[in-house]
Parts: sequence; C-alpha cells; structure tokens
Amino acid sequence: MEKPLFVVLGLLLLAPARPEPVTGAVIGLLAVAGGGYFTWKSLSPRNECNEKGRLDIKALQADLENRVFGQHLAKGITLRGLSGFLRNKNPRKALAMSFHGSTGTGKNYISQIIAQHLYPDGMKSRYVHQFVATLHFPHIQHLDTYKDQLQQWIRRNVTDCKRSVFIFDEVDKMHPGLIDAIKPYLDYYEHIGGVDYRKAIFIFLSNTAGEVISKLALDFWKAGKVREDIKLSDVEHQLSLSAFNKKESGFWHSSLIDRNLIDFYVPFLPLENQHVRMCIKREIMDRGLLVDDELVSKVANDMTYYPKDEQGFSVKGCKVVSTKLGYYL
Ligand SMILES: *[C@@H]1O[C@H](CO)[C@@H](O)[C@H](O)[C@H]1NC(C)=O
Repeated sequence: MEKPLFVVLGLLLLAPARPEPVTGAVIGLLAVAGGGYFTWKSLSPRNECNEKGRLDIKALQADLENRVFGQHLAKGITLRGLSGFLRNKNPRKALAMSFHGSTGTGKNYISQIIAQHLYPDGMKSRYVHQFVATLHFPHIQHLDTYKDQLQQWIRRNVTDCKRSVFIFDEVDKMHPGLIDAIKPYLDYYEHIGGVDYRKAIFIFLSNTAGEVISKLALDFWKAGKVREDIKLSDVEHQLSLSAFNKKESGFWHSSLIDRNLIDFYVPFLPLENQHVRMCIKREIMDRGLLVDDELVSKVANDMTYYPKDEQGFSVKGCKVVSTKLGYYL
C-alpha cells in the first residue's frame, strides 16, 4: 500500500542526477498521483467518522435477510429503528436499543452487522466500541475507577466522533453503578459539558427476559402457530404479565427501560432446527465450500434441543455451529 510513496521518494532521490525535463515531468506526475492517493486514503470513508449516518438500508436489509435466521421481530425493529434514527438530522437523544434473548440467537451478530454497515471496519473500527461486563468491569472493588474510565471513554470517543457506536454485552451482569454512569448520555440533553451525545448509538445485549421470550415461542410452536405471527405486542404483553420482575431484570431494566431511555426493545426468539440448518449452510458457504445436505444434517443433529421430547428449539441457538462444523469437516 505504501508503494506509491516509495516510488515517489525513489524518483526524487534520482532526480538531481538526471535532470532531464521528461524525468521531471514523470516525477511531477507521480508526486501528484502519490499525493492524491494518500489524500484519498486518509479521507476515504474507511477512516472517517460517519457523522452524517450514511448507511445503505437496502444493503443492510439484504445482509440481515441472508445472514440472520428466524428473527423476524429483531430484524424488523432494528431496521426501522436504525433507519428512522439516521434519517433524523437532529435527534433529540442518542439511539438506545436493547437486545434480549437467550444465547446464540443473534444479538451479537446483528450488532456486528450494524457496525459493519456504518463503518467498513466493523467491530475493528475506531468508532465502534464494545464492552463486555465480565471482561472490562470484573472487580466490584474498582467500581469508581470503572465509572470514571467508562465516562471518560464515552466522552472522548464522542468528542472525536459524534456517530460513535457503543455495544454493551452482558449488560445484565453490569453493576448498577455503571449503568447509572452511562444514563446521562442516553437522556434528552442537548449537550453535557459541551459535548453533544445525541447522534451516538448504544446497543445493550442481555439474556434478560430470554426465558419469557422462549416460553412465548414455545407456546406458539406447541399450538402449531406460525412463528412469524408472533408480534412485538405479544412479547411485551408477556413481559408485563409475568417474569419481567425486579429479580430477573434487576436494576438494569428498572432504571433504563422505565425511564424511557431505551428507544427499542428487541426480542430474539429461540431457534428451531430449520434455522440452525440455515446457519450451518451459511457457515459452509462462508468457508467457500459446497453445501452438502448430509453434512448439514449431521451438524444440526449434533446440537441439543429442548424440550427433550419435542426437540423444538436449539439450546445454544447457532452459537456452536462454527465449531461443530469444523469438527465434521
Ligand atoms: C474510546 O474507547 C475505547 C474503548 O473502546 C478506549 O480504549 C479509548 O481510549 C477511547 N478513546 C479515547 C480517546 O478515550
């Protein structure tokens, strides 16, 4: 990639020895080309803060369709939520989406896809930040340090790029104090200490309510109803009825959702055998191999399903698909 620079430098070194006009012209041209290349490279979208929130919604939609299975609610809500937010030139608050569901249902995957469509480098972009509660904030005795650190990170990163993306994984395991520390950034303030946070994107991932969502899907499944007929209102109804109590959801839920700081509540349904098969096929194609139905069945049947008698849903969703596939290959 640095080749043009070397060529230009090399020719510049040679230049005094061969001062013919032709060489001069060539050097000039190369210098212009090299300069242009580097300007283009540093200004190319790859390294740029996407403050305007440019995003190809059609491409995002296609990616979600082709890569995420069995999640009609999650796909629909994230697409609409994100495009609405990005279309708004003056959002009144930062976007906060809360992804709920059990392991392997695609919460991480959808957040990665979103990150990638905002920033070509995806999770590796300097504008995308992921925090994993048990990894980044493991020791309760350091809570005050964590709080300061987290606030400083968010402040500095948003100062650097208004359209920063923050993904909090295992948020149900995060200390209440840390949740408190990020609350102001999700609220309706024009600015805090001179920094405007309202273009930032926050995504919270948790297993909270995973069981309630799974039970709802199981009831639908047992009743022989089409899963795609599960509506957000069904999920919300179930949640308000039952298990979304303080014990399961804890401070996290009460302090953010009750205060309307979360804009979108996104449920992830448990995955059936047919969805697991789709994940396996996608994984096979991603590896550049031909899909072999026998192999797909082998891997799919090697997963654990519940309830035991009916084998309705995969316990780990699509989580271990990649490892299992590697084993059978
Ligand atoms: C931005 O956040 C990351 C954590 O993802 C942190 O390591 C980094 O220091 C922050 N940047 C600034 C300028 O504070």
